[in-house]
Parts: sequence; structure tokens; C-alpha cells
Amino acid sequence: MCGIVGYIGPKEAVPILLDGLKKLEYRGYDSAGIAVLKDNKIQIKKRKGKIVKLENLLEKGAPKGNIGLGHTRWATHGKPNNLNAHPHNGCNSEIVVVHNGIIENYMPLREKLISEGHNFISETDTEVLPHLIESNYQNDLTLAVKESIEEIEGSYAIGVISTRDPGKIVASRCGSPLIIGVGEGEMFLASDIPAMLNYTNRVIFLEEREIATITKDGVKIVDSKGKILEKEIINIEWDVEMTEKSGYKHFMLKEIFQETMVIRNNLEGRINLTANFLELSEISFPLKNIKEIEKIFILACGSSYYTALVGKYIFEELTGIPVEVDYSSEFRYRKILLGKKDLTILISQSGETADTIAALRACREAGSYILALTNVRGSTISREADSVMYIKAGPEIGVATTKAFIGQLMSLYILSLYFAQVRNTINHTEIKKIIFELIKLPQLVEIVLLKEPEIIKLSEEFFNYHNFLYLGRGINYPIALEGALKLKEISYVHAEGYPAGEMKHGPIALLDKTFPTVAIVPKDKVYTKVINNIKEVKARDTLVLALATEGDKEISNIVDRVFYMPQTLDILYPILSVIPLQLFAYHIANKLGCDVDKPRNLAKSVTVE
Ligand code: F6R
Repeated sequence: MCGIVGYIGPKEAVPILLDGLKKLEYRGYDSAGIAVLKDNKIQIKKRKGKIVKLENLLEKGAPKGNIGLGHTRWATHGKPNNLNAHPHNGCNSEIVVVHNGIIENYMPLREKLISEGHNFISETDTEVLPHLIESNYQNDLTLAVKESIEEIEGSYAIGVISTRDPGKIVASRCGSPLIIGVGEGEMFLASDIPAMLNYTNRVIFLEEREIATITKDGVKIVDSKGKILEKEIINIEWDVEMTEKSGYKHFMLKEIFQETMVIRNNLEGRINLTANFLELSEISFPLKNIKEIEKIFILACGSSYYTALVGKYIFEELTGIPVEVDYSSEFRYRKILLGKKDLTILISQSGETADTIAALRACREAGSYILALTNVRGSTISREADSVMYIKAGPEIGVATTKAFIGQLMSLYILSLYFAQVRNTINHTEIKKIIFELIKLPQLVEIVLLKEPEIIKLSEEFFNYHNFLYLGRGINYPIALEGALKLKEISYVHAEGYPAGEMKHGPIALLDKTFPTVAIVPKDKVYTKVINNIKEVKARDTLVLALATEGDKEISNIVDRVFYMPQTLDILYPILSVIPLQLFAYHIANKLGCDVDKPRNLAKSVTVE
């Protein structure tokens, strides 16, 4: 959570900081602020609320200067207000810090610093940092930062500037991402790549506890022991257009409409169409080991956990390998029972989710091979995993995930099919059949997207309800969970996802005519079972919207509204069923006037526990 930007070079810092902050607003939008260093003075401007509030403030008079830091906050310690907004400074406004993460031992540090005469004005954990650096400062900012971070416990990504040691930004990270952008005679600092794509796509990823001293001409990076490091500059393939709305009202809508492209990206280079064969050169897991896997653990959070649940169905169906799925946040505190021949798969769009990183490290300690599915090259998870399969969604800016969900599902299909091929668990004709249907998917998704007007009409009909039940069974049960999550997180309408067969064990008590049900009921092997469940719902006077397969006449006699999806294989329906649910949530939220891309209390990557 929280976004950090920094600039040092020949240009005015404020416009660059503001531009970067806007690109990072998905990381948090409780408050925003900037600090600019010029002529031995640091000016700080900050405002509660979204970045536009800070922008309005700066229009009345922005500080001038070529070195600066910016921050957009997702509040953890201390409520969102002007005082708690970053940047924070020490007693004499000589040392200024922006911080992402949580300093767990901030209370004893704060008491110690107060007893030494330091004066605190905010409720944040962050404020200990400038005071600590101030108290450790002799004549070198980098050294003072190094000594200070040795005293703190918790997670951090920080940017520090000082009038005592001007001409540099000192940065460090532990548990929160931080990236340095390399320009021509100018340098950048940011929590995430989109913040600097307007200026450079050459970046250096800081590793845990490394400390960077950034000047306009370059960067010196040392490890926690002070050893100078030679770091690779990586060229990022993303471009700035990918981070714009491109005419769509919201990023979320743009990203839903990019889903056909995401599917194509995932198929490209991974399927040999002449031989109907999967080629997954990006996975370094030896073939021999794939043959010997006894169990797979898939770990993830939020929506990524739901794709993991779909993954369980696919892997078990195609490869016969038993799969256990868990929330990273739960798994990391369980007794870890990983066998030598077990594989761990981590799924994380951002590659920076704190609990998933912790789960990765716990699995590493248990000796497991770790395969990560992620969207972000250079992210912590991509760097710490043994193998990475990129989900190829491109930058996802909308806080609620959509296209990355599709990218994750596609990667899981391809990966499990590849494992099935290696392990010979399904024959070549079946592989060929699935490949054929996978290749048809972009076309089928196009058909679903073209039916957006139908979804708009449905959202007009349903947007006034306060509660929804989403039902699915088998491989579509996780999609019911995802449909409900999408609705609640962006429209603040209560929605519950449930396995259709379980509904009569409790939730059915909730149902009446004020509580509509969305049922995912494709013509698959559990079709008749779900139909029976829907009849149970209908008997309670409940309005039912069904997602069904084109040509299913029977369903229209049972439910109130039907959205038809094209026909596909049973295992591929999650792709076609989740998209109308994403659109349904989007249009309801939009009708309710919600800020779809920046839902309240949420942030895109959850880098705190
Ligand atoms: C919901 C959503 C979140 C994320 C979750 C995990 O729309 O986006 O639930 O799926 O925070 O994030 P990643 O995949 O980045 O680990």
C-alpha cells in the first residue's frame, strides 16, 4: 500500500512527482503530499483525500526545486488527515521521509526519541523515521539512514531527503517494493513501474535492505553491510499508453475490454499449433520432477485465491495430481507439511502481496520448489521464486482485478495442460481438443463483450437491491465467489458467493424477493444439479439471473433473466462466466456513482500483513 515517487535532475520536480503520484493512486488515496528541496530549504505540501486535492493546493503555489519526494497514502497508523499525510519531517524540517509499510516497534522508538527531546506531531508510525535519522545523523545521510533502519522492525520502503546533505535522495526497502528509474542526467524513484514510464523504462529493482544513494547522475547501491553492489538495469517492455484510460470512463472497463488481448498474449509462444503441443520454456522445473510431483499447493490472496480454486479443479481433472489451495495469510501460520515431491504455486498479480511473499519464504524454508504466476516482472515474488510464469496482462491499474484474473486462469490452463502432457495423464487427442478450444477463446470472449448492452440493461434493473447471492458449482463455484467480491468491493453492495449445493445448509434462510440470486449454470456436468438448486431458490420468491449456455431453452422457463454465454468445454467456462459478472459489477457500481477504480478502503497491492 501507499505509493512513493522521487525525482532528482534538471527539471522542476513538482509536475513529475504529481504525474507519478497519479499513476500510483491505485496504491492508496487517503491523502497525498510532496516535499521539494531547494536552497537549503525543504517545502512540504500535503492534503487529505485524493491526489486531485493536492493538485488543487499546488495550483495556488507549488514549491520550486529539482529534488523531491511524493507520497500517496493508504492509512494504517493514524486516520487519514493532513497531519498524518506524508512526507514527514524531523524537528528542524531538515530531514524528510516518505514511507510505505509498517514500523512495528514504532512505539518504543517514539518514546525514546521523545525522551531525547524530539517533538512528534502526527499519529503515524512513519514519523519516528525522520526523527531517528535526525538523531543518528553525523555528516552523511546514507549512513544515518543505514543506522536508523537497523533499529526498526517491520516493513518499509523509504525515500529520504535532507538539507544537511542536499543533492541526493537516499532510499531503502524491506518488505515493500522500491524501484529506481535511470534517465539521462536525471533519476527517479517509485513504488511501481507505471510512475516512471513517462520518463524512462530503464529500471533497477532494489532488494531487501539495500540502500541506494541517488544523485542526478546515477545511483550507488550498497547491501546492509555496506558492500557496494553492481546492479543490473532492466528494460521494461510496458509503455505509457498502457497506463492511460484510452477513452474509457474507467481503467476497470478498459481492462475488461483488454481481456481478449490477454488471452492471446497467454497463448502466444506457448502452444505449437502444428504439432498441437505445449512448449513452456519459461518453466525451469525439470521434466523429471514434473513427472514425480505428488501434491500441489496453490497459495494466493483475494481474487487470486479464487483463480487458485479454479486451478485446483483444472489440475486435478487434467493431471490427476491432488491440489490443496489456501489463503497465503492462513497458510503461513499453519504447520507446513510440504513433502519433497510437492510443488508450491503462488499466484499474485502484483507479486508484492505481503502474505504471499511470507508464504513463499515459508515454503522455501520447507524445501519446496516454488513456481510463481505473476504479472509484474521484477516484483519480489518474481525474483524470489524458482520459476516464473507471467500472466501477461499488462499493467493493471483498476484496483479491482479483472484482466489479471483472466491472465491467471489462462496461465493455469496452459500450465496444467503442460503438466498433463509431460505426465501423459490425458491422450494427445484430448490435448488437441483443449488446445483447439483455448484458441477459440478470444473469439468467444469477443462475443461476450459485444453483449455489454445486455449487461447494462440488467444492471439498470438490479442496481437498487442491497443484497445478492451468487451461486456456482464445481469449477464455477470460485467464479461465484469472484462475482460476489467484484460487486461488493466496487459498489459496496453486499453479496455472498456460495457453492450452489451448500446454499440449503444455511444461506437459503436469507432469501426472499428482496435478495436476488445470480446463478452460474453452463451446460456442464453439474448442470442438472444447479438447476435443482435454482428451483429451490425460486421457491422462495427470489429473482434469479442466470448465466447459461447459448441454446439452453430450459433455463429461461425457470429463471427471471438469462445472460447467454457461447458454448465451450466444461473446464473453460470460468473465463466466459466471469466476464459478464465483472461487467455487471462495474455497471452497478457506475450507476450507483461509485469511484470504480478507487474503491474506498482498498489499495491495489497489499504490501502489509
Ligand atoms: C480484488 C483484488 C484483490 C487481489 C488480492 C491479491 O479485485 O484485486 O483481492 O486479488 O489483493 O493481490 P495479488 O494478486 O496482487 O497478490
